[in-house]
Amino acid sequence: MFLGSSLKPFNEHLYISSPTMHGEEMKYVKEAYDTNWMSTIGENINQEEKICAEKIGKKYAVALDCCTSALHLCIKIAAQKLYGKAEYNKGSLEGKRVFCSDMTFAATLNPVIYEGGQPVFIDTEEESWNMDPVALEKAFEKYPDVKMVIYAELYGFPGKILEIKEICKKHNAVLIEDAAEAMGANVDGKPCGCFGDYSAVSFNGNKIITGSSGGCLLTDDESVAKTARKWATQSREMADWYQHEDVGYNYRMSNVIAGVIRGQFDYLEEHCKQKKAIYNRYKEAFADLPVKMNPIVENTNPNFWLSALIIDEDYMCKQTRSDCDAEFVAEKGKSCPTEILQAIKSINAEGRPIWKPMHMQPIYKTTEFVSVKNDVGADIFNRGLCLPSDNKMTEDQQKAIIEIVRACFE
Ligand SMILES: Cc1ncc(COP(=O)(O)O)c(C=O)c1O
Repeated sequence: MFLGSSLKPFNEHLYISSPTMHGEEMKYVKEAYDTNWMSTIGENINQEEKICAEKIGKKYAVALDCCTSALHLCIKIAAQKLYGKAEYNKGSLEGKRVFCSDMTFAATLNPVIYEGGQPVFIDTEEESWNMDPVALEKAFEKYPDVKMVIYAELYGFPGKILEIKEICKKHNAVLIEDAAEAMGANVDGKPCGCFGDYSAVSFNGNKIITGSSGGCLLTDDESVAKTARKWATQSREMADWYQHEDVGYNYRMSNVIAGVIRGQFDYLEEHCKQKKAIYNRYKEAFADLPVKMNPIVENTNPNFWLSALIIDEDYMCKQTRSDCDAEFVAEKGKSCPTEILQAIKSINAEGRPIWKPMHMQPIYKTTEFVSVKNDVGADIFNRGLCLPSDNKMTEDQQKAIIEIVRACFE
């Protein structure tokens, strides 16, 4: 039972996952400055796209201002191919259902809404904390006409994307892979981001490598890359004047930000190794507690972006959550995410609840949710939490986190 800690709070706030810079980034940023390519074109962008495509194993990467934009363009391009070109002032998914991961960050499916589509949330499976292939099959039984699936890898721990891909193939559906959190992870030796017909990665400030912001759309189809580049630059046609046949966006990555990302690529493996060491230290230290770390599916190598744990059902103390608040009743030998997160906060560190599933969000309260086993997502949200996972966390800091988590179960 956590009753306030005798541990001294850290002098500096320990973030859950913050940027880790190495110096090379500045070389490329300075290059952009010195050559005056302070723009959305330039050598850093060219190189960023080349390296990103090579790392993921796709033919083309399109550098964008963020992963949400990348997902938007993936969805819009896929929708146009599936359903034809919409009127310029209509969404490309008007009235169409799209099967979406449920336990993810809202950005995975926000672009479905931008395009007038109707998400159907597919429950999570216990075994992987990712989209449940059985629930996806069930959704196709109900809606055999659905043609688009959006799948996100949670916390950089890949799920059963090969099964998901097979199911999509069987039902002639397009798979969009949201690998925002999974850069550096792989399945059967192949990098996350290479499995979708269209994929997206993120270089947001909290990701495993970062440009402060940024994202890439990934594809093997040259015409998709060309369309994405055009739409991302206000859909300007090749003409001397501003000529437009499509609605456009200002989504291109800055050459300055591309410089930061270019400098970070060489450190991806190192960051994954550091995160893996953090996960293993937690796992070992909590081996005798009634908790489990986030699951690792056979034949996958996570990037270990965020370490998370789930408390065994019998060792949960009473916890109540309203829309924006949480309370708990402390109990000897038991704990809950709210107590543990408060304990972590008390020493000036940051943990986080599990991403609240989309079907539990007020905005989606009337949206359809397909589950085969009693709402697994809600259960993981109730009993799970993300632990501090910054790759600059010292072993002493991690020991303090471990100590304070253990104290919650006394
Ligand atoms: C699963 C997931 N999808 C999409 C995004 C959006 O990425 P960005 O912030 O680069 O738009 C994020 C995180 O930010 C994410 O975690």
